[in-house]
Amino acid sequence: MRRDEEKLREYYADAPDDISLDAVDLDRVPSHVSIIMDGNGRWATARGLDRSRGHVAGVDALREAVTTSVRLGLDVLSVYAFSTENWRRPRREVELLMHLFATTLVNELPLFHQENVRLRFLGDIDALPARTRKVFQQGLAETADHTGMTFALAVNYGARAEIARAARTLAERVASGQMAPADVTEDALAGCLYTAGLPDPDLLIRTSGELRLSNYLLWQLAYTEFYVTDTLWPDFSRWDFLRAVAAFQHRSRRFGGVASS
Ligand code: FPP
Repeated sequence: MRRDEEKLREYYADAPDDISLDAVDLDRVPSHVSIIMDGNGRWATARGLDRSRGHVAGVDALREAVTTSVRLGLDVLSVYAFSTENWRRPRREVELLMHLFATTLVNELPLFHQENVRLRFLGDIDALPARTRKVFQQGLAETADHTGMTFALAVNYGARAEIARAARTLAERVASGQMAPADVTEDALAGCLYTAGLPDPDLLIRTSGELRLSNYLLWQLAYTEFYVTDTLWPDFSRWDFLRAVAAFQHRSRRFGGVASS
């Protein structure tokens, strides 16, 4: 993805002691970074606040992650915002999150226009409350002709359900004679996932120190490098993002083969 070097240098000007833009090779930034944003509740509880305040603070961190990704020149940023299991949270928290998703999208559309960001959703958004669904569909339509970074928001997403849905689609095609069983390949299945057409993530970041995948992108993360930080999501900054990219660049990715010399 094309990147504005001047804006990038300015964005990363006030470096803390331990990290700066010099720590990363700008010719080798990952194409797709995915984030499990975790720790909003703990961030709020630690401050004696209601959990909802953690989600509100999480919006600021997400805005910074989107801007950082654009500045670094990523092709895709994807984030896990709401899983199929998150419906089990207290009703008030679910309602707050659905409201926050819709309101944030409306508020952030100017940023998406300004930065030429195309929006995409991973998950079953048809099952969301009417206002959230409507705002999401508007966001899709309004950013459809943007040619810059793709921002993929996983909402009402579960990886097992996604894979089962893809398998069902292929089974229906075979049953109707549109394709032969032998055509059920990895590529065919990947083409039926919510992420169809996107590159697999190169780097997965999980905040708040949890070492779990939580039913996220099980198919797509097969060869992804993981980076886990204890930082809680609302505190995750452009510098934490840079630390993750620098760590990623020190890994040796072999995709099951041997390291090239
Ligand atoms: C995990 O923290 C976070 C979520 C379930 C929601 C993610 C939502 C945001 C970051 C708000 C902004 C997002 C959008 C798309 C506008 P948690 O509640 O599981 O934290 P805990 O593990 O400390 O309880």
